[in-house]
Amino acid sequence: MTRVSPAVCVWLLFGLQAVAAVKAHCFLVPPKKLMENVDYTKQEHVARIHSDFDDGNGNIVYSLEGKGANQNPFNVFVVNPRSGHIRVTKILDREFMDSYMLTIVTRYKNGSLAESNFDLRVQVVDDNDNSPVFQDIQTGVVNEGSPVGTTVMRVIATDDDERGNRNSQIAYHIIDQTPAHDMFEMSKSGYILVKNSGLDREFQKTDQYVLTVRGQDLNGEPGGNTGTGTVTIDILDVNDNCPVLTTDFHTMCTTDVSVIVNAEDKDSYPNRPPFDFVIIPEGTQGKWQVNPLNDTAASLNAQESMWPGFYEVKFVVRDKQGEACPDPQKVTVEVCTCVDGVVCGKRATSKKSEFGPLGIGLLVLGLLLLLRKYDVMLILMKWAKTFYTFAVLTTITRQVEFSRSPV
Ligand SMILES: *[C@@H]1O[C@H](CO)[C@@H](O)[C@H](O)[C@H]1NC(C)=O
Ligand SMILES: *[C@@H]1O[C@H](CO)[C@@H](O)[C@H](O)[C@H]1NC(C)=O
Repeated sequence: MTRVSPAVCVWLLFGLQAVAAVKAHCFLVPPKKLMENVDYTKQEHVARIHSDFDDGNGNIVYSLEGKGANQNPFNVFVVNPRSGHIRVTKILDREFMDSYMLTIVTRYKNGSLAESNFDLRVQVVDDNDNSPVFQDIQTGVVNEGSPVGTTVMRVIATDDDERGNRNSQIAYHIIDQTPAHDMFEMSKSGYILVKNSGLDREFQKTDQYVLTVRGQDLNGEPGGNTGTGTVTIDILDVNDNCPVLTTDFHTMCTTDVSVIVNAEDKDSYPNRPPFDFVIIPEGTQGKWQVNPLNDTAASLNAQESMWPGFYEVKFVVRDKQGEACPDPQKVTVEVCTCVDGVVCGKRATSKKSEFGPLGIGLLVLGLLLLLRKYDVMLILMKWAKTFYTFAVLTTITRQVEFSRSPV
């Protein structure tokens, strides 16, 4: 039989002082707060209950029910059935269980209820015992050329401490950027922004930045726990380069009919080859036709027999997106008679520089013998030109070598 009377109450006593007592049964009971990580197990009690029916001779039996008492996790809280002292048996962990709702049961010895049951809520107070954690590697993308202030991404770390508590409030910042171009900055709330203009995939020769970021709880204030994470930012290609010819000068023997022109474009797929070569008739000297060879090269074919001389050819070269440089691409083709596989008295500078004076002399002698049947003036002119060219090249080569040698 349950006795219900507004005049009869269970007293809940916090601590040792009677002033902390509340008539739990009769009033709303404020939650009892206990700190996590604090050892209360040595305390005789963290709360006491007392029924007005308790005659002090053991006529009343107190007990606890609920999770943390007679349900899993068992016996975190226990009550002395006679004294009504409630003890805690473990150091509490808020991240394991942040509050306990205990039902207090007051019975007579014969088993019948002496009071209505009532609940005691124990709230576990957070301690800053967790650090920010960055899950995995977070990745973002941004177009090259993006203006300062462009938002790239938001980085998120988690902190198991209590939500809405400064113990889990994370302030972010960047501690390292690779390559070290200082291109990005981070807001306290975790947004990564473009910091500097000039994000240029080709010029900076990188299409990915790796950032090391740090999060600190207590909103970044001293004493907060920290965690670090890695963020990668991919720089997306923008079609900001146009195809250009790799060389603006070619030689061609009068006996040949074509030269090969190559182009390059620093952008990445799909802003690159295959290229489309088109001759611009205006300003192009000679009759030529261009035929594709592969993605980056085309064959420039003479459409008539060419006299020795210099011919300028103008092209439009378009990338896969149809983009071309604003100005035409120009190439000069020197057409000349070739002797013994020697093209145009030698402009192919790389091989020429290997010749010493002896080589030049032998070459000139050979030319002289071969050309004996031709007009003497012509021979002398060619000889003079050839010799002059080699002399200049040799001098340049030596200067370059000299200037490169260690001081
Ligand atoms: C149990 O004991 C109380 C107090 O002595 C009494 O009031 C109540 O009637 C008893 N209940 C039963 C079922 O005997
Ligand atoms: C295209 O042809 C040119 C000239 O033959 C050659 O140098 C180049 O390597 C070729 N490129 C490809 C991608 O095959």
